[in-house]
Amino acid sequence: MNPDASTIAAGAPIEVDLSPIAEGQDIKVFWRGKPIYISHRTKKQIEEARAVPVASLPDPQSDEARVKAGHDQWLVVIGICTHLGCIPIAHEGNYDGFFCPCHGSQYDSSGRIRQGPAPANLAVPPYQFVSDTKIQIG
Ligand code: FES
Repeated sequence: MNPDASTIAAGAPIEVDLSPIAEGQDIKVFWRGKPIYISHRTKKQIEEARAVPVASLPDPQSDEARVKAGHDQWLVVIGICTHLGCIPIAHEGNYDGFFCPCHGSQYDSSGRIRQGPAPANLAVPPYQFVSDTKIQIG
């Protein structure tokens, strides 16, 4: 039995099949009324995210700490800008990540703030892999 719409809206976990998401693509799903970006990162995006000295970041966090070990190509973040709550655009901006058009915050391919007024990285929601190609968010 699947939860009904009101249960889902109230925050039931959701499962997302990752298999249709090609490398280099992002999808947006909704969980608890929030947009969640799921990015199938390219090797280049992962390398870029890992080449940055963590201490130089405004909100220092390693890329490894923001993804699940063994599933490094998948980035899952809440798509709400940590400045004033706009929804950033995926695959935009100077860092191969996300760009918030409201006031120009730039996030990298790990969803970390790199430039602009946002004070913090895009949040990573609670999620887990239930198989190699499926995650449960929440
Ligand atoms: S809300 Fe995103 S930069 Fe201001």
